[in-house]
Amino acid sequence: LSVVNIDLDGVAPGSRITVKWQGKPVFIDHRLEERIELARADDNLEMPDPELDADRVQRPEWLVVVGVCTHLGCIPLGQGSNDITGEWQGWYCPCHGSHYDTSGRIRKGPAPRNLDVPPYQFVSDTLIKIG
Ligand code: FES
Repeated sequence: LSVVNIDLDGVAPGSRITVKWQGKPVFIDHRLEERIELARADDNLEMPDPELDADRVQRPEWLVVVGVCTHLGCIPLGQGSNDITGEWQGWYCPCHGSHYDTSGRIRKGPAPRNLDVPPYQFVSDTLIKIG
């Protein structure tokens, strides 16, 4: 399917879900204030692929990113509640050690780019359409 509708109603603050879009995992993080603040606090630090957190989200409490490491395509850890999330509390790719922050930006390791943000839109407060 090229377009998928995702109901966010049951996604509690602080939890992350994985959905499928175009055969790829998409990570949706219902970010708590502390995760948003962590991301914003680093906005102006030097990074491999500089981007403001605000430019990567439509609503700060919802981060939506393609869950495919931009190095060689492994699926980063961080979606499971007991997963390693890396040094920046986002996601960690165990294949070659890439660390992503709470905005999905690459901070350390061989990945060249931030996790991609797929095309999506909010259809309502609790429904998004990806694709
Ligand atoms: Fe993720 Fe290499 S594929 S670090």
